[in-house]
This record gives sequence, structure tokens and C-alpha cells, in this order.
Amino acid sequence: MRALLISIFLIFCCLGFEVNSIVCDPPVGTPVNEPWGESFGINPGRVVWVLDREATTWDGVNGYFFDSDNLDQSRVDNMLDKAITSLTGNDDVVESWDMLFRDFNKRKHGKENGYVPGQTIAMKINLNGDYGLYIDNNGNEVTPQFLKSLMTHLTKYAGVAQTDLYVYDASRLIMPHFRKMFEQYFPDINLVDNEGAEGSIQRVQPDPTSYLQFSNTAVPAQKLTKLPTFVNQADYMIEIDDFRGHDMASFTLSGKNWFGSIYRPDVNCNFKPNTVNHWCPMSLHQFVNTTSNNFGSYSVLVDLIGHPKLTSNTLFIISDALYAGPSEFDHSSNQDIPSPPVTFEMEPFNNHWSSSILIAQDPIALDSVGFDILRTEPHIPLARMGCADNYLHESALANDPPSGTVYNPSGQGQLSSLGVHEHWNNAYERKYTKNIDPVNGKGIELVEIHLSDD
Ligand SMILES: *[C@@H]1O[C@H](CO)[C@@H](O)[C@H](O)[C@H]1NC(C)=O
Repeated sequence: MRALLISIFLIFCCLGFEVNSIVCDPPVGTPVNEPWGESFGINPGRVVWVLDREATTWDGVNGYFFDSDNLDQSRVDNMLDKAITSLTGNDDVVESWDMLFRDFNKRKHGKENGYVPGQTIAMKINLNGDYGLYIDNNGNEVTPQFLKSLMTHLTKYAGVAQTDLYVYDASRLIMPHFRKMFEQYFPDINLVDNEGAEGSIQRVQPDPTSYLQFSNTAVPAQKLTKLPTFVNQADYMIEIDDFRGHDMASFTLSGKNWFGSIYRPDVNCNFKPNTVNHWCPMSLHQFVNTTSNNFGSYSVLVDLIGHPKLTSNTLFIISDALYAGPSEFDHSSNQDIPSPPVTFEMEPFNNHWSSSILIAQDPIALDSVGFDILRTEPHIPLARMGCADNYLHESALANDPPSGTVYNPSGQGQLSSLGVHEHWNNAYERKYTKNIDPVNGKGIELVEIHLSDD
């Protein structure tokens, strides 16, 4: 009897994880090796994951994780070379960049053009760890070493002038360690943030001619969202993600990242006294809360990913997972401070920093792999909260989603599938359909590259 009561208690307490009052149906982690949606790109479904444990050597205590002693620039450079060339399957970095532009232009404009000088590229970085201050801290996020490698690629291998590049987070601040790296090596790249109050940083402005609508009438200010001017006008986007858990959305990758790109007239985030700040997604949060939205729910992330100026204008999505973290807040501390990075226990990290870069052309494939890693990792408990992959189901099947929503973020027509979604067979073999059957597989192909042999 007692055993029966305990097992009933276990079923009710733990099946749905944490405070979750809903039971996800089908369970999180479905479908396994049964792809939903359709991929695209040079090698459809390909996600490249480059791991180099020797790139990250912070002791976890002294200084900052992004200090030059703790993050090996030449190893990061090499990781990015491998990521780009493995994505295209061409060993030459310059040719790989050209292939990415041509593939994008063929899909988007029907013409296989390469990059034309003067075209602009906007890059969204996720600076949620800024904490509203221009002060460096150990909050886990994108690293200056990673950005330096990527800017080198763009200016040297892709042939883009610094003045045609924009790096931004519209709702956050570009902290000094980023600004100093840009000022030293790329002084003419445009840096844009929420306040534009330090050094050469510009303040973000909404483009009144931009248009983004949410595909559910319950969303406040449903048709009034604006995008930054340079985003609305960009020829290409590159999305640069963090890799971590999230208090409400369970995890943050390429979907959630867009929350730092939108002007919402209905809200004033008011991070600082006596300021008006419309660059925040507060009134959208209930639509990404994974403990209150079951599978088959409308997701605002699908409208952002599918908008023709956001992920659908993106050359590729890349995750800086060199130092990843559990959350944007430090739950182990009573202070309101950003969470420092954590080590990853699971194989193949083996109790080291996550030390990784992930890249894909297909955002849904990238987020599917990222989520499989995060939900497996014991040190990222938030990723096991709620029905976290609802937006991946909805995005993969955006033309006919489980929620029945007619997703139409531009107002110009219903979206088609935004990419392919499936889960790996298990956390040890990490195989997706194209790993299992390279010829007939229609889903994800995970290319795992380990650069250090420690
Ligand atoms: C998410 O929804 C749950 C269930 O309705 C609620 O208890 C929780 O406070 C919400 N989370 C946040 C961060 O608002």
C-alpha cells in the first residue's frame, strides 16, 4: 500500500517536472527520429557542432571567463573555420562564404548571386547578462573572442566592409569588453544598443515603415510591432545565439533571441527611473511560458522566426556555446545578478565548460539539436521545464501547425515550414535520421567535430 502511494505520488509530482501543472502530450522529446517539417540549404538538415575543450580554460573563480588567458583566440578562430567549412562541405573558407551567399540569394531572390559590396549585414547578439549597466560581469553569454573570429571572417573572407556591418541588441547594453574589442580591431563596424550611451555605440531607432504582426488576436498591440531601421533595411541577417536555460521559455536559442529586436508601443520596460523604453517583449512573455502553454499552443516565436526580415532573412544561425549557462539569473545567489557559466557534466563535455560552437542554415534543426543537448545536461534544469519544444513543433509545421494557427507575421501570406524538427535517438549515440540513413534520411544530420583529444 505504501509503495503504491509513493508511486502515485511520484507520478503526480514528477512526470510534468517542476511546477508544471500541465502534462505535455505527446511527451517532450517527441518525435524521435521521425522528422517533422522540411529543411533547406546547401546540405539540408545539417547542424555542425564543433567542440574544443582546450579553447576554454577558466578556473571558474578568478577574473572573467572571457579574459584572454581563459579563452584561446587562435583555437576559437580554428573552431569557426571548421564550423563554416563543415557546414558547406567545402574545405576553402572563402569559397564556403560565397556558397552561403549564393544559396541564400537563390532561395530568397531566385538568383544565385554572391555578396555584392555595399550590401548590409545585421547581427543580433544576445546580451541578456548586461543587467542594465555598462559594467562587465561574468554573466554567461556571447564572447568577444567568438565575435572577433566572426568579424574577421566577414571582413577578410566574405569581403564585407566594416561600415556595412551592424552588431546589436536593441533591448540591452553593449558592455565595455565587447566595445573595446570592436574599437581595437573593427572601429568602423556599427554597434547599436538600447541606450547608445558609451563610446561609438549608436542608439536603436524603430523603422516606422517596418511591419510585424502576431498571428493571434490575444497578443497585445498585435499589429504594432516595429523593427530597428538597419534590421528592416538589411540585405542579410546573421543570428548569434547564446546557449542556455531560461526562466520562462525553458531555454534560449534562435527563437527566443529575437526578443531583443522588437519595439512594442504597449510596454515601457523602464529598466532605469524616468526613462521610456519600448524595446522589450514583456507583454509577449505569457506566450512563451512553457509551463502554461501545452503542445498545440500558439507561439509568438514562430511569428518572429518566420518574419521575412528576421530568421527568414538569415544567412545562418550560430550559437556561441563556449561558456554556456543555466539561466539569465543566478538562482544560487540571493542577489539579482546574471548567472555565471556552468560546466557540462554529460558526455562528450565530461565536466568541462561547454566549449562549443554550433551552426546551421536551418534554425529549427539548430534549435532541435541545441535543445537535445540542454535538456540532457544535468546542470541546465530549466531546459526540462514544461513543454519546451512546442515552438519547434509549430515552426516545423508552420503551414499546418498543431495549434491550428494561421501564421502570417508579414501580413502577406501564411508561412510554410520553417525547418526540420526531430530528436536524437539517445544522448550517447546522438543520431538523427540522416546520421542513421544518409541516403534516405529526411531530417537532421548532426556533424560532431572534436578538436582536442583530452
Ligand atoms: C508561467 O506560468 C505558470 C503557470 O501559469 C506561472 O505559475 C508562472 O508564474 C509563469 N512564469 C512566469 C515567469 O511568469
